[in-house]
Amino acid sequence: MVSFDSVLCPLVGLILGMSVSTSTMAVGDSGGSRIGKCKYQFNDNNTVIDLNPLASHDGTNWKFNVSGPKGSFRYLYSPCWPMDHLKSEENACGDAVACQEEIQAVLYYNLGDFPKEKFNMDGASVVLSYSGETGGTNRTSQITLVCDKTSAEPTFTYVEETGTTPYITYKFTLRAKECCPVSIGGLSFGSILCIIFVVVLVVYLVAGVLINKFARGATGAELIPNRAFWADLPSLIKEGFQFTGAKISGCFSRDSQYDQI
Ligand SMILES: *[C@@H]1O[C@H](CO)[C@@H](O)[C@H](O)[C@H]1NC(C)=O
Ligand SMILES: *[C@@H]1O[C@H](CO)[C@@H](O)[C@H](O)[C@H]1NC(C)=O
Repeated sequence: MVSFDSVLCPLVGLILGMSVSTSTMAVGDSGGSRIGKCKYQFNDNNTVIDLNPLASHDGTNWKFNVSGPKGSFRYLYSPCWPMDHLKSEENACGDAVACQEEIQAVLYYNLGDFPKEKFNMDGASVVLSYSGETGGTNRTSQITLVCDKTSAEPTFTYVEETGTTPYITYKFTLRAKECCPVSIGGLSFGSILCIIFVVVLVVYLVAGVLINKFARGATGAELIPNRAFWADLPSLIKEGFQFTGAKISGCFSRDSQYDQI
């Protein structure tokens, strides 16, 4: 699909898009928001990440499970669908989509209630975070979403544990094609500015020509609005650069004309 940006205003779209996205790259910036169940939209463009295809709808099997470095723990994650079956057992992970299990003792620790997840940028990475509380300890799971268009099967990996009770954070990576941002059409901020620019330009040209023709009785090249100004513009720009250049070199050389005055 060919987007508006690539057809009409590649340059304007690119420059505006770049300036906007650079400004949203700061660590901790929200960068996006949850727009529906397991659906997240970026602030600066019309793309979403939709994890719904990764949901396991039976509520009894965790979609992902991975062992931690301490052999007795494993980490369970099921995007979009809490593990209903655990609820009846008054299990800490009853409303959770992320859970830590102590295998031998069969103890569960909630790593993330649903649907209270946060969708954030950490540098250029997209991070989904959940939190839950078990036994007075607040456990947060941070899942970095890695877009991999070529992966047939999604992979969930354990990265590290940081912090101590009562605040512990567990970091994971989810690599999948579902983690890739998908365009939902519509217009980005850059495109809207671009449209405004084009509309203003057209109105200016049409109104200018009409005014010159009917109010001033102009013909031919005289119809161009503010013709004298536009004709002079290149030399005005050139003079501007020359002036700036002279100023800058004046800062470095002692015998510039400004020092002599
Ligand atoms: C939209 O913005 C996000 C965050 O800056 C970026 O990761 C994603 O690739 C962008 N999508 C497109 C299509 O540019
Ligand atoms: C856990 O702590 C984080 C950060 O302070 C907070 O945002 C979150 O609401 C807490 N979660 C629970 C379940 O208490």
